[in-house]
Amino acid sequence: MGIAIYPGSFDPVTLGHLNIIKRGAEIFDRLIVCVMVNSEKVGLFTPAERVELLRRVTAELPNVEVDASQGLLADYARKRKAHVLVKGLRAVSDYESEIQMAMINSKLYSRLDTVFLYTSPKYAYLSSTVVKEMARYGADLSDFVPREIIRDVQAKFYEKNREG
Ligand code: PNS
Repeated sequence: MGIAIYPGSFDPVTLGHLNIIKRGAEIFDRLIVCVMVNSEKVGLFTPAERVELLRRVTAELPNVEVDASQGLLADYARKRKAHVLVKGLRAVSDYESEIQMAMINSKLYSRLDTVFLYTSPKYAYLSSTVVKEMARYGADLSDFVPREIIRDVQAKFYEKNREG
């Protein structure tokens, strides 16, 4: 089924993201997970750190590549010769902004289509924002992020608290 791009902030990658990555990698020959800038969000991890965490949790998935881009998603897709974007949809509330983004992206690059995968009900409540909130208060993160990165998320908050 060709190449698809799964774009997002991934700040940090959650179990919900990983579920979409695994299912996308079953559907497409190659899935490029791309860390992009969302101008509406303030980052916790740097883009390079997010890439490193994503690479670690996708190391066993041979047709998944992790990359980063600072530009427009449509330009990145054109450069990578990809015609499909994969997005996860958690709830109806995600739908409006996701449809708007899908339309903008296809306006910028007419060959680009967006495919939505519904989020597994197990992770319907999950987001990177929830993970950061839980981590801030020292909650157990094992239901939220892949176990390989739990320490990194905890360490980030420890570092931040020390900086004051
Ligand atoms: O995980 P997120 O924050 O919902 O992902 C949103 C993201 C990063 C995919 C979106 O903000 C994006 O595509 N940013 C790159 C800039 C761009 O192409 N904007 C036009 C689409 S509205």
